[in-house]
Amino acid sequence: MSDDLTVLRADFPAYRIWREETPGRIRYVARSRHPGLNPFSVVTPDLGELRGALHSAPQTEAEEPPEFSPVQPNIARMYSYWLNGKDHYGSDRAAAEMVLEKFPEVAEVARANRAFLARAVRYVVSHGVSQFIDAGSGLPASPNVHETARAVNTGSRVVYVDRDLVVLAHARALLAPDDQVGVVAGDIRDPRSFLTGPALTEVIDATAPVCVLLGSVLHFLARAEADAAVAAFREWMAPGSYLVISAGTSTGVDPELIQRLRDAYAGTAPVTGRTASEIEAWFEGFTLVPPGLVDVHAWRPNLVAQPAPSRARILAGAGRKNATAPTRPA
Ligand SMILES: C[S@@+](CC[C@H](N)C(=O)[O-])C[C@H]1O[C@@H](n2cnc3c(N)ncnc32)[C@H](O)[C@@H]1O
Repeated sequence: MSDDLTVLRADFPAYRIWREETPGRIRYVARSRHPGLNPFSVVTPDLGELRGALHSAPQTEAEEPPEFSPVQPNIARMYSYWLNGKDHYGSDRAAAEMVLEKFPEVAEVARANRAFLARAVRYVVSHGVSQFIDAGSGLPASPNVHETARAVNTGSRVVYVDRDLVVLAHARALLAPDDQVGVVAGDIRDPRSFLTGPALTEVIDATAPVCVLLGSVLHFLARAEADAAVAAFREWMAPGSYLVISAGTSTGVDPELIQRLRDAYAGTAPVTGRTASEIEAWFEGFTLVPPGLVDVHAWRPNLVAQPAPSRARILAGAGRKNATAPTRPA
């Protein structure tokens, strides 16, 4: 089997190819060495299928990190609009409003998502983990992760990661008060490319528990890419680490909302509403903190008041990595 892998690696040098083994499951992952190569990643339990996918793919340069464009609606700027932020253009507002026109509750759910992240960060710091990777961090939106974490533990360290050049520019200007807060360009579809880089390891000690935040970002990744990304974080994280995820779901959601979101983000990113059980599966190897995977507003809420029923749903959870969870591959 390792000979087959060696041959495959020699045949497709543009890809890193490895085998992953978890209890009861073996799979193979091919990940492009170049951000623009298509397919970016392939995950399959079958080596022959992996070879076929790499053979039949055009292997052309595809998606690059989004360039700045005021006319193309942008994920981070639309989110800023829904959060009542100020960093958006007419194209972002038009796309965001196209969703709100039929589903006005989306803005409320976006704000609830932001509030969930703050509650999760406070929970994690107060349970002894004070280093964070905020992956898909978005435009600065106060309170940012390091502000929330440092309100509980002043020694908290945070690295913000995003692939959007404008997000990175704003983050570098606003979110790096000292050398214990970093801003790193990175694509969540290939976590290893930034998890081992000096910009991250100068701030984060990977041998100690860390908290990875994946807030409202995994639904912008193709299904296999999101699954592979979470698996890569899981393997890299030391036991006792926390994984915090919020993600738009298709479970209990009007399909027309998902279609509106796909239209709004067309040309920018896919919108893959995953089922509740698919989202829960991302926590394999982690023990979910009570109350488990729930609507964002319902995760350890501060307020007793119940929000109005909503047709839009982001599910949220936080899990602590078990000592026996899959670890870093050799
Ligand atoms: C909706 S915002 C969420 C911001 C923040 N995490 C939150 O929940 O409040 C999604 C962010 O993910 C970023 N993003 C999308 N796809 C990404 C990828 N493949 N790698 C890194 N960042 C990505 C976008 O640029 C955007 O800034």
